[in-house]
Amino acid sequence: MNSDHGFLGSVFFSTGINKVKFAIGVMEFADLSGRAIDYLSEGEQEIYKGLRVGQRRRQFLAGRYIAKECVCQDHPSLQRSSINIVNGAWGGPLIHSEHLQNTLISISHTDNFAAALFSASNMFPAGMDIEEIRDDQIPSLQNFMSPREREILLAENLPYKEALHLMWSAKEAAGKALMVGFNLPEDCYHISSFASNGNSFHIGFENLPILQCIGWLKNNLSVCVAVPSILSFEKLEIEPASILAIKTENLPFNGHC
Ligand SMILES: CC(C)(COP(=O)(O)OP(=O)(O)OC[C@H]1O[C@@H](n2cnc3c(N)ncnc32)[C@H](O)[C@@H]1OP(=O)(O)O)[C@@H](O)C(=O)NCCC(=O)NCCS
Repeated sequence: MNSDHGFLGSVFFSTGINKVKFAIGVMEFADLSGRAIDYLSEGEQEIYKGLRVGQRRRQFLAGRYIAKECVCQDHPSLQRSSINIVNGAWGGPLIHSEHLQNTLISISHTDNFAAALFSASNMFPAGMDIEEIRDDQIPSLQNFMSPREREILLAENLPYKEALHLMWSAKEAAGKALMVGFNLPEDCYHISSFASNGNSFHIGFENLPILQCIGWLKNNLSVCVAVPSILSFEKLEIEPASILAIKTENLPFNGHC
């Protein structure tokens, strides 16, 4: 595992009274061990076998792998293959496992990276999205910008390419937090504020004031987490994910955490 390209950690919010923690992880597909398939539950293995396109197979495997790494941050004694993640009516991931009821998972993948967010409680809906920052994405991302979003991008004197990707990530993360993806009218995802706050960005939605996004840039990735606006962002704590490679090498063949 190239530790420059992956990480595990947590993002912390506060209700004003209580702390709310989400475990997060990002990894590069190239770092997947051949044994990653042992991490899949029986149901996931059936879905995996049915996937015909190689890239989709890799995305599915890497998404499930990093999702389970995040779950096991909070539940280290769980066997990964006992964690069953299904996709609901509109594609949203749901954990169907005896020991993980009322928990929350969100998954994202790009051509080369997979990411996930896990919470031990589904009290605070959340969604995660990553994007690889690429010049060739700029024209298509610009096509999806509202006039107001263009104004914000220019007025705030933000790094243009990075902010463009963060805005798109924020929209996907919002759709995932609501579990509807991009199935609502486009203006539901319009961004109304984009503020830099040290190493992170705070992003607000014009027509979805109940949600907010915290985003940051890590190497060549934009990473966004959407959560209810009633939460206050506290901190991000991440470690290089070279620990994933060590864990993988040390795994017994049956895939225990
Ligand atoms: C949710 C959505 C925005 C994600 O887009 P994407 O390009 O696949 O983005 P990512 O790779 O970051 O995310 C994929 C993961 O999102 C999750 N996801 C899919 N639909 C979701 C939903 N409704 N709610 C929450 N999460 C969802 C899944 O876990 C999926 O991974 P998996 O299939 O391996 O489990 C997209 O799937 C969607 O809404 N599609 C429906 C509408 C549409 O296609 N519109 C075209 C817009 S250009």
